[in-house]
Amino acid sequence: MSQLLVRGRSRLDGEVMVQGAKNSVLPILAATLLTGDQVKLRGCPRLRDVDASIRILQGLGCNASWEADGLVVDTAGLRGCAVSDMLMREMRSSAIFLGAILARCGRAELSYPGGCELGPRPIDLHLAGLRDLGAEIDDTGGHLHCRASHLRGTNLVLSLPSVGATENLMLAACGAEGVTSIANAAREPEIVDLQNFLNACGAKVSGAGTSTITVEGGQRLHGCDYAVMPDRIAAATYLCAVASAGGRAFLRGAREAHLATVTALLREAGCVITSDAAGIVCVCEKRLKAVRPVRTAPYPGFPTDAQAVLMAALLRSRGATVFEENIFENRYRHVDELIRMGADIQVSGRVAVVSGTDTLYGAAVRCTDLRGGAALCVAALAAEGESRIMRIGHIDRGYENLERDLSTLGADIVRVETEQIEG
Ligand code: UD1
Repeated sequence: MSQLLVRGRSRLDGEVMVQGAKNSVLPILAATLLTGDQVKLRGCPRLRDVDASIRILQGLGCNASWEADGLVVDTAGLRGCAVSDMLMREMRSSAIFLGAILARCGRAELSYPGGCELGPRPIDLHLAGLRDLGAEIDDTGGHLHCRASHLRGTNLVLSLPSVGATENLMLAACGAEGVTSIANAAREPEIVDLQNFLNACGAKVSGAGTSTITVEGGQRLHGCDYAVMPDRIAAATYLCAVASAGGRAFLRGAREAHLATVTALLREAGCVITSDAAGIVCVCEKRLKAVRPVRTAPYPGFPTDAQAVLMAALLRSRGATVFEENIFENRYRHVDELIRMGADIQVSGRVAVVSGTDTLYGAAVRCTDLRGGAALCVAALAAEGESRIMRIGHIDRGYENLERDLSTLGADIVRVETEQIEG
């Protein structure tokens, strides 16, 4: 078992390079199927979820190999259209392969991705959109048997701006005949990155970043060489680490435009943040203040993925901050672990109230999910004494090497292998 040992209260100082975006590269890896060609993804982060996507691609007959500066995927050899139940369960966002496989093969056999640590993860909007594009989907018994001899472009309207549904439908629409419009589309920067990737492969997609995306389907796609955008949630994590521990950091590659709601709240809390095309500098030299209510919302609102790390950064602030989680039902599972470290947090339904406390204490804590795990590290940086962070496989799903990056900034954090049963 791997664990992280963190000794808190060292001031951070230094520079880290922000990894490529997990949430961008996962749909892009699915999109490589549409090309039937070789694609190079520069800056592709080495993550557990990326490995899971690679295994899905390999299971379909495709090749993938790591190079020093990225990942090369060749989908010319695609010979199947089925993804095993085991691989579907390994990564909750595997549903994104549905649109791509269907567009390329005219059929797809997948199992339901099922629920996850954050609560139920329905894919009803994905399926409804694919049906509107002409797919026949039998979703009984936890399996998705999909057929589409002919996908046809149409006007799709999402009842909520789901990131995954928007991406899935963009991919399927690339393989449909005619024009598809997706109204009430998600506007996340990762959707823009997917559009840029698809267009670099010869697709005709426009409107990403706005609420209406238009896809002129039926283009013949080819391979390309593409640099993945920087990970805004990893950047938010490092900003919160500096806010928590105090100090100064330069996040090379981070784009403040993608993080405006996070940096606004950190400034309100007392951090000094400046940015330019090269990255973001965050300086935090004094005790933070509580901030106005933090309400998670679809982009450009405050990202649900940054809720836990911001909460962790504010545990020792002066005053109380209200959090309202509006995207996922079960996204406060890190709270009980933070309380073990001395945090004062009251949860009621979708609301959590964090009352700043003078001191946090190192403790043995367990990661409950990816961002909740990162939040435990952020809190541990501000705690007296040593924290032992267990079940860090969650963290490895989305951070290339969290301990390397935090150590580069001067944190006292090491990964240890132990025989200890984690329960
Ligand atoms: C993506 C991100 C995840 C982030 C989330 C919200 C990836 C790989 N993951 O997840 O890190 O936390 O966006 O920003 O990019 N919903 C439905 N029906 C559907 C689809 C979604 O009801 O068919 C609901 C979900 O249960 C959730 C909400 O819509 O409550 C938002 O989900 P969605 O935007 O789809 O998130 P993901 O794409 O799964």
